[in-house]
Amino acid sequence: MASQILIGKGNNDAFINTNMLSRHGLIAGATGTGKTVTLKVIAEALSNEGIPVFLADVKGDLGSLTEAGQMNDKLQARLQAMDIGDFTFQSFPVEFWDVLEEKGLPVRTTVSDMGPVLLSRLLGLNDIQEGVLNIAFKLADEKGMLLIDLKDLKAMCNYLADNSSELMRDYGNISRQTVGAIMRSLIVIEEQGGDLFFGEPALNIRDLMRTDIRGRGVINILASDKLFLMPKLYSTFLLWFLSELFEELPEAGDLEKPKIVFFFDEAHLLFEDTPEVLLDQIEMMVKLIRSKGVGIFFVTQNPADIPDPVLAQLGNRVQHALRAYTPKEQKAVKTAAETFRQKEGQDVETMITELKVGEALVSTLDENGIPSYVDRVTILPPRSKFGTTDPAVLKGILSSSALYGKYAGTLDRDSASEMLQSESLKSSRKEAEAADVEYRKALAEAKREKTEPAGWSPLPKIELSQRDIRNGMQIIKEGLKITRGIMGILKKR
Ligand SMILES: Nc1ncnc2c1ncn2[C@@H]1O[C@H](COP(=O)(O)OP(=O)(O)OP(=O)(O)O)[C@@H](O)[C@H]1O
Ligand SMILES: [Mg+2]
Repeated sequence: MASQILIGKGNNDAFINTNMLSRHGLIAGATGTGKTVTLKVIAEALSNEGIPVFLADVKGDLGSLTEAGQMNDKLQARLQAMDIGDFTFQSFPVEFWDVLEEKGLPVRTTVSDMGPVLLSRLLGLNDIQEGVLNIAFKLADEKGMLLIDLKDLKAMCNYLADNSSELMRDYGNISRQTVGAIMRSLIVIEEQGGDLFFGEPALNIRDLMRTDIRGRGVINILASDKLFLMPKLYSTFLLWFLSELFEELPEAGDLEKPKIVFFFDEAHLLFEDTPEVLLDQIEMMVKLIRSKGVGIFFVTQNPADIPDPVLAQLGNRVQHALRAYTPKEQKAVKTAAETFRQKEGQDVETMITELKVGEALVSTLDENGIPSYVDRVTILPPRSKFGTTDPAVLKGILSSSALYGKYAGTLDRDSASEMLQSESLKSSRKEAEAADVEYRKALAEAKREKTEPAGWSPLPKIELSQRDIRNGMQIIKEGLKITRGIMGILKKR
């Protein structure tokens, strides 16, 4: 059943309909106006509805979702003014994640999985460099090689440089200088800690879609205070994450409740210095991910930071106060006002500048997808604690996580840097594939005749070392399935 979650009160109660969450949302407002509290109020209500949440914690003030809030005079007065009598404080089930591996479970993916599009953005490559990176991926994909970490990618780049004359005919020009430039940007990323992001065990996105024993959605918190200082890493990571959800989840149509809701804080970073091609892909993904049962809330100071085609897709809007001193700010207020459905005579522009902290203009989609008239709303207080939480408490929660054993260790799998040294594998894969084709033919033949295929073995007889066999098996397995989806990430299905 779809339900309504109460986020505040104005002339009417302000609800978000759970069946409209995958029509996405926006939380905007100047600094200190109440965006984070609104995000908490929504995330808490989603958890209580059994909907898992993922949010990036840029200021370190979201861990407090693990602790129940406490009454004080200010809150009492607020609740009284809102005519809410039975408000209960609550703590919520959370899981902590951290790309930099300090404050949460590591979030990792492989270089192969991330693919050339997002990696080029992460590395800040120009068109020519991106072209060469594409060749590296094409070659690895064709050969069925897994590039697991940055070490593998470097090995692949070296291979390109060393064999450029042979590769040129099939793949195009590869200059040593360009490879050198890519290598240098890889080192920069490594120095920032970006290498931690690449490796195994890779995150299984389904581990983020859990409920606790009481059926409440787990709130996944990504520590982003440091990550956010490396804007490219932060935004690429979150983009990868969305693409991963998109590729991993099956079509779900219109759901009564989404499978997960994702809060993208400091969302302007996603669109800053972003090439047109990538912007188009982001826009397309925001549109398509709806049908996978994923809701996205963009959180940003100024709605004008979000390109119009994306903004137009955000159905549930909470606009906190904006300042309007400079001409630029005035324009932003005007833009924000225009996005709302308003009644005759409502002066939305003035309203936006007059909102108090913890108040917002709200318009959400009704259960049929029609936007409500904008209303000035006092947002509920959060049920969890305000502000930050003692790091010792957070550490305790982290170490008792059910996923700790799965993600806290590292795996060492044979990957490209080892494979490239093994020349015999090139021919072994070709033979194996040819044999596989023959085998399938024979099998089909035998099926028609209702007999067993005689004397066929799916693998050719070739002399291989133990290590080659290990690598070779992986080559065959991976080699047959590497295809890329939206944003160039690996397709899993
Ligand atoms: N709904 C609310 N109920 C009660 N108090 C609120 C509410 N919203 C905001 N406040 C008060 O305002 C303070 C600032 O709010 P918040 O941290 O959400 O601002 P913000 O917009 O996220 O700021 P920044 O851009 O700096 O992150 C809160 O710490 C709280 O004291
Ligand atoms: Mg905030």
